[in-house]
Amino acid sequence: MCGIVGYTGPRVAYPVIINVLKRLEYRGYDSTGVALLGKDLKVYKKKGRVADLEEAIVGQDVHAHTGIGHTRWATHGEPSDRNAHPHSSATGKLAMIHNGIIENYTQLKKELVRKGYEFKSDTDTEVLLNFIEDIKENNQCSLEEAVRVALKRVVGAYVILLVDRDEPDTIIAARKGSPLVIGIGKGEHFLGSDASPMLEYTKEVVYVNDYELAIIKPEELVLKNLGNEKITPYVQKLDLELAAIEKGGYEHFMLKEIFEQPQTIYDCLRGRLDAVEGTITMAGVQNYIGQLTNANRILIVACGTSWHAGLLAEYIFEELCRTPVEVEYASEFRYRNPVIHPGDVIIAISQSGETADTLVAIEKAKEQGAIIFGVVNVVGSSIARLSHSGAYTHAGPEIGVASTKAFTAQLVVLTMIALKVAMEKGTITRERFMHLLNELHEIPAKTEIVLQQSEKIKELAEKYKDARDFLYLGRGYNFPIALEGALKLKEISYIHAEGYPAAEMKHGPIALVDESLPVVFVATKDSYHEKIVSNIQEIKARKGKVIAVITEGDETIKGMADDVIEVPEADEIVAPMLSTIPMQLLAYYIGVAKQLDVDKPRNLAKSVTVE
Ligand code: AGP
Ligand code: GLU
Repeated sequence: MCGIVGYTGPRVAYPVIINVLKRLEYRGYDSTGVALLGKDLKVYKKKGRVADLEEAIVGQDVHAHTGIGHTRWATHGEPSDRNAHPHSSATGKLAMIHNGIIENYTQLKKELVRKGYEFKSDTDTEVLLNFIEDIKENNQCSLEEAVRVALKRVVGAYVILLVDRDEPDTIIAARKGSPLVIGIGKGEHFLGSDASPMLEYTKEVVYVNDYELAIIKPEELVLKNLGNEKITPYVQKLDLELAAIEKGGYEHFMLKEIFEQPQTIYDCLRGRLDAVEGTITMAGVQNYIGQLTNANRILIVACGTSWHAGLLAEYIFEELCRTPVEVEYASEFRYRNPVIHPGDVIIAISQSGETADTLVAIEKAKEQGAIIFGVVNVVGSSIARLSHSGAYTHAGPEIGVASTKAFTAQLVVLTMIALKVAMEKGTITRERFMHLLNELHEIPAKTEIVLQQSEKIKELAEKYKDARDFLYLGRGYNFPIALEGALKLKEISYIHAEGYPAAEMKHGPIALVDESLPVVFVATKDSYHEKIVSNIQEIKARKGKVIAVITEGDETIKGMADDVIEVPEADEIVAPMLSTIPMQLLAYYIGVAKQLDVDKPRNLAKSVTVE
C-alpha cells in the first residue's frame, strides 16, 4: 500500500510525478521520493509527505523527461530518509521504487552480504535492487533480463519501477500482487498504482497483470511475461472524470464521499434494478446463478469495513436465500487450513480490489476449486481480475482512507445478489421480492433525507468529542452497523470504540457503563425493537449517555435517549444503508472537531496491499 508513479515523454517529468503522487498519497505517506533520469540520475527523497519533499528540493536540478516517484507505507524499516524510496543500487547506476513485500529478502541479503554488498537502508526493496544489479553486472546482461531473472527467485508481492543511468528515457516495471496501471499518452507514458490520478493526462490505460514485465519508452510500450514472451497490451478507456477525484468544494474527500452516497447508491442500482419491470439485472450474477443457488454454503472473505458488509450479507443471505453463510476475516482465512469444497462459492468483498489478505485468501480458495465472486469497487483491480465473476459497486474513486460510499454500495450490491438468488431458489415470494426491490429503489432519496441531519450530528460531535471511549450497540441487521460505526470512530478520531451485539452487554461489558461513556445505539424499527428498548433502559439505569439512531417518529426511544438521530422508515433489511450514514458523519465531525487529518488518518493507508 504505497503510491508509485512513473513518467517518460516530452514533458518535464518532475511536476507530473509530484502531481500524481499527491493524488496517490492516501495510499501511504510515511516518506516520499523521486528519481529523475536526465543527463545523469538524481534521487531526492525524505521522510514525510510530498509537500515536505517539494520544499526540500526547491532550487535543485529537477530537469529530466523520465522519472519515478513513491509515497511509502513502511513494512521493512521505520519511516526515515534513508528508508524512503527510490533506492539507489550499489553502483549508483540504478534507482528503484517498490510497492509490496519481498518475503525472502533476508536470504537474498545474506547472499549479497557474502559478496561484499553493503546496505544503506533496512528495507527489503534495497535488497531486491542490489540483487537485480548483481545479476546485471555479473551476467553483463540488460536490465530487463536481470529483472526477469531476479524476479524468478523472489517470493512475495511487488510492483517495481526501475530506471538505469545507461538506458535513457526508459522505465522498466514489473508486478506480482500489487497494482500497476500504465497510462498511454501521445509520445508519452504514465505509470501509477491506480488509474484515476492519471485522468488529467490520459484516459487510455493498460492494467498490468501478475508476472508481467513492461519496458516503457516515450514512443514504445513493450509488455512481456517472465518467460520473455511478448504480450499484446489490452488498452482500456477510463470513463471517470477528473472532477471525480477532486474534492468538489468539500473540506475533505471523506465528507464529499459521504454526501455522494445518494448518487453512488443510485449509480449502483442504475442499469440493474428496474422498479417498473420488477427485475434485477446483473450479468455477473446471472452467469453464475447456478453455482450461487446450488452452493451448499457461501463463504465471505474481506477485511475491515468490507468485512462488516460481509457480516450484514450473512444475515441477509440466510434470511432470504436460506443458504448457510460463513464470514471470515481474510487475514485469518488465508493462514488457517480452511475446509474448502469444490463448488463452494466465495464472495470476496473489497473496495480497492488490492487488499493483500483478501487477494491471497481467494487465490488459495480458487486453487481448491472454489468459485470466486468479487464485489469490488476499483475496475480492473487484482481481486476483480482474479474472480470467476462478480459485480462492481460503481461507487467511483474513494479517496478518503475511511470507507463510506463504497460500504453502502457494497450493501446495495450484496442485497441485490441475495434477492436474485432467493428468487431463483424460490425461497422468497414474488411479493416479498417486489417489496424489497422497491425499498432499494427508494434508498437514494432516503439517503438525502438522512444527510439533512448533518448539522445536528455536527453538534453531537462537539458535545461528545472529548469522550475517552464509546460503545456502539445494535441487534440483528443493525449489529454489523454498530461494528462499522465503532471502526469509523476509531480510525478517524483515534478514540477507542467498541461495537457489540446489544444483548451481549449483560455478559460483562455493561460493567464499562457510567456517566462518562457515550453509548451509540443503532435502533431503527425492526423485529428486535422492544428488545433494543430494554437494552437502552439497561444503559440508562447505569447513567450511560445514550445516542440513538432511530426510525423517524419513534417516540419511545426519543423519550429515553439523551440524543437521537432520525432516519426514514425502511425495511429492516435495507435500513442499515441509512443508519450507517449518521455513524459516518459522527466520526467525521468528531475527527474534524479534534483537528485531525480525516482523509489521511495516522498509521493508516487506503489500500492495505501488504500483509
Ligand atoms: C475502512 O474504513 C478501512 N479503511 C479499512 O478497514 C478497509 O475497509 C479495509 O482495509 C479493506 O479494504 P478493501 O475494502 O479495499 O479491501
Ligand atoms: N516493503 C517496502 C518498504 O517497506 C515497500 C513498502 C510499500 O509498499 O510502501 O519500503
